[in-house]
Amino acid sequence: MKILVTGGAGFIGSHTVVELHNAGFESIILDNFSNSEKKALAGIEQIIGKQVKYYEADVNDSTTWDKVFTEQKIDGIIHFAAAKAVGESVEKPLKYYRNNVSATVLMLEKMLEHQISNLVFSSSCTVYGEPDSLPVTENSAIKTATSPYGNTKQIGESIIKDTVQSTNNLHAISLRYFNPIGAHESCLIGELPLGPPANLIPFLTQSVAGIRGQLSVYGNDYPTSDGTAVRDYIHVVDLAKAHVSALNLLLKQPEGQYYDFFNIGTGKGSSVLEVITAFEEATNLKVNYAIKPRREGDIIAVYADCTKSKTVLGWQTEKSLKDALGDAWNWQKKITLYN
Ligand code: WQD
Repeated sequence: MKILVTGGAGFIGSHTVVELHNAGFESIILDNFSNSEKKALAGIEQIIGKQVKYYEADVNDSTTWDKVFTEQKIDGIIHFAAAKAVGESVEKPLKYYRNNVSATVLMLEKMLEHQISNLVFSSSCTVYGEPDSLPVTENSAIKTATSPYGNTKQIGESIIKDTVQSTNNLHAISLRYFNPIGAHESCLIGELPLGPPANLIPFLTQSVAGIRGQLSVYGNDYPTSDGTAVRDYIHVVDLAKAHVSALNLLLKQPEGQYYDFFNIGTGKGSSVLEVITAFEEATNLKVNYAIKPRREGDIIAVYADCTKSKTVLGWQTEKSLKDALGDAWNWQKKITLYN
């Protein structure tokens, strides 16, 4: 079976292409390399021992979809291609509405035109905002988005759900990712942030590697066990495998309408200080950090209830926080040498 992976050269996309291969699927990558590098393709090929077909093209261009769908018999799409920086989305909202919303509309139009009926959509735990209670289940309230980025994920989910309900044969799943971290254990693929990372783990590993200065811990006066903010950090390989489970569930559906959405996390919340300690234990290295004021827009705590993913998708995580942090560090060492 052939799966089109938009954004397949990116952080989550590249790991998903590997897991698709392990599960017997063939991936066709569609990427414009605006926030990814071609060396990710070489890394994938080395891991799977096979060439990967890719299209260097833009998801906003309707001729892209016609070309791919005419040249390839696509059985399903995993749609990662999107802009993903929360801060940038406040500065450049139209970039986010075009890349994340308009492109999703175009993709759905082209899917209907070319009768492609299976879609996995990258959504986010940001749809829950600051939750009223923890852990969040798929039934927790969807809060008003706090950034254009978050809004695009809410809108994307709604567009897909409404489209499924309007057709005779469309199957779609939205996966609400918590905080993906780590890298493939081979160190052949991983995260390649452009410029200073805004996210905790790449900043931490770059700081320990001497590429960045001291790590700032944003706030220690939150109402959490140690005062620092809590997130659900998931190993990117576990997250990638969730896409294979989602695809298998879609492919099992009889002809007709199907739409569902799932939390993809570990079910465990970790504070920033707990992450730092786990990193130090996993690597025997010291993290140089200082407590700084809260970061604007940060929520206090969020972590997933993954019961639905376990029972309906048949998926659960296999790797620990320490595994993820050890792999993130091994990847950091590799790319530091590389550059
Ligand atoms: C984690 C924690 C920071 C950097 C991101 C995306 C979001 C969503 C999930 C996809 C927070 C603290 C961070 C630093 C720190 N994913 N921190 N020092 O904010 O949970 O959200 O992943 O859609 O859209 O933005 O992740 O890694 O930035 O922060 O103390 O230098 O680490 O305050 O508590 P976040 P993050």
